Amino acid sequence: MNIGLTTTKAPFIEEARGAGQLFITQPYALYSEENHEAWRQLYGRMLPLWQRYANPHFLKGLQCLCLPPDRVPKLEEVNRFLEPLTGFRAKAVSGYVPAFLFFDCLRNREFPTTITVRSLENLDYLPEPDIFHDIAGHVPMHTDPAFAETLVRLGDCAHTAVEMVAGISDPKEQLRRLTSILKAFARFFWFTIEFGLMNTPEGLKVYGSGLLSSYGEIVHSIESPEVQRYPLQIEWVINQAFEIDHYQPLLFVVESFDQLYQLVDTLERWMREGRLNNVAPGEPTMHERDLQSFLHVVSEEVHDA
Ligand SMILES: [Fe+2]
Repeated sequence: MNIGLTTTKAPFIEEARGAGQLFITQPYALYSEENHEAWRQLYGRMLPLWQRYANPHFLKGLQCLCLPPDRVPKLEEVNRFLEPLTGFRAKAVSGYVPAFLFFDCLRNREFPTTITVRSLENLDYLPEPDIFHDIAGHVPMHTDPAFAETLVRLGDCAHTAVEMVAGISDPKEQLRRLTSILKAFARFFWFTIEFGLMNTPEGLKVYGSGLLSSYGEIVHSIESPEVQRYPLQIEWVINQAFEIDHYQPLLFVVESFDQLYQLVDTLERWMREGRLNNVAPGEPTMHERDLQSFLHVVSEEVHDA
């Protein structure tokens, strides 16, 4: 019997992490029958909700990728369909990818992809991302050229952030400013790539992957009168705290992915103008490993200069 690649219970992943291997290959033979069954159930119950609530670019992407409804997908099969469309590739990882590395992957059109599957008993509860969130929630969007370019621009922004803080000689001020810039990035990413809504001729639709991979929240995000939905304004988004442990009470709407791309351009310009240096305090908390991932590159650049 296969031992399985279940989230938080996969010895293969523990070993890879123990050996310091972040980028791995998907050991497909290790998936258990229960893992495939979890995928089957997740996919089967989301499909009618996607057809009703997902934006048309996602539905087109889903078709382009030919994701199997009845078993965990192989990343190499996904990439065979994905790469010719936008150059993006799903790249297997053993766990959390520190922020700079994550953005740098996007810049290189690589999407760090979790390969474990949530357990069959906990289809709704996710202690951390899994392959359903990453492959079914994120990757279909990467087939869309305008969306893909937006991700690459976000990756560029991480390099701009390095440039911006590299010039600060006081380490305390450098850390303070980097923390503020990364908070702005995290909020922007959250309210667009993870939880974004889009106006379409067919009404309001979902494009954020956190919503696209959530059986309960996809409906709630569009239908609930409790949710506040506003046109996306950068000045609001970068100063808006969010919490990750409940359905989002506040969501932002864009008109198109071309608009989203323009917004990332504006985000980068604002960073250069110093307008991300003092964003409102509050969630999310910036973690040491994310800050260090940037500072490490900063010190390399200063050293090279
Ligand atoms: Fe995600």
